[in-house]
Amino acid sequence: MKINVLTLFPDMVKAGLSESIIGRAQFEGHLRLNIHNYRDFASNARRAVDDAPYGGGNGLVMQVEPVKNALSVIDPKHQSHIIYVTPKGKPLTQERVKTLSESENLTILCGHYEGIDQRIIDNFVDEEISIGDYVLTGGELAAMVLVDAVVRLRKGVLGKDESAEEESFEDNLLEYPHYTRPSDYYGKKVPEVLLSGNHKKIAEWRYSQQLELTYQRRPELFQKHLASYNDCQSKSELRKLLRCLDVVGLLAEAPSNWIRYSGYKK
Ligand code: 6GU
Repeated sequence: MKINVLTLFPDMVKAGLSESIIGRAQFEGHLRLNIHNYRDFASNARRAVDDAPYGGGNGLVMQVEPVKNALSVIDPKHQSHIIYVTPKGKPLTQERVKTLSESENLTILCGHYEGIDQRIIDNFVDEEISIGDYVLTGGELAAMVLVDAVVRLRKGVLGKDESAEEESFEDNLLEYPHYTRPSDYYGKKVPEVLLSGNHKKIAEWRYSQQLELTYQRRPELFQKHLASYNDCQSKSELRKLLRCLDVVGLLAEAPSNWIRYSGYKK
């Protein structure tokens, strides 16, 4: 996979993506990361890339010219999917990350100052993405977040101990809690069931934990997860859901016809 990043701070982006798993992904050839400085594509003597906004107001706006010049060198035929990272973009989700990870060629534009000239967006950008409802000083951190989230899903990037299965947002659930040795840390004990060796019980305990945590922290995700059972025909699947909801006091969240249909008894 090839990813171009256009930025005024190439060292920042390079540093943020050269360690750990994404660094290794580059070394092993899963990712070809090309980081470009807009300034190298400025045509004026001052190498300026920004100017005051028409209509007045604070800050500076990135000009069209250096971005157009950069794209005409990096991606002359517009073969890559061009993303502008901005707080007014569509919020990034794991589902979108998955789809983007199937792309072979992405270009990410980082904004700075007040933003970039709208004509860049109108004429070159395929998609605008935000990484959350808060404002950063520039798009670089957002670009790094996007690259990390996308590249880790590419085949061969995660080792088998770093598997992307069973993690938060799969099936609209947050992850269950994890424990490792010692089983008793100065009286703070690991939940008994995890030491039982009973894999069915362990799976159900973990599922109950996921349901409870998601209900408390992300009620909208919880509702989406429940809705995924709407056309579930399997009585045993439904009974398992109801059992796991019941354990954490959430049985009332399930429609009563599921209880009748599945024959679930407390
Ligand atoms: Cl993509 N850029 C900036 N500057 N702030 C953000 C953002 C992006 N996403 C959330 N906040």
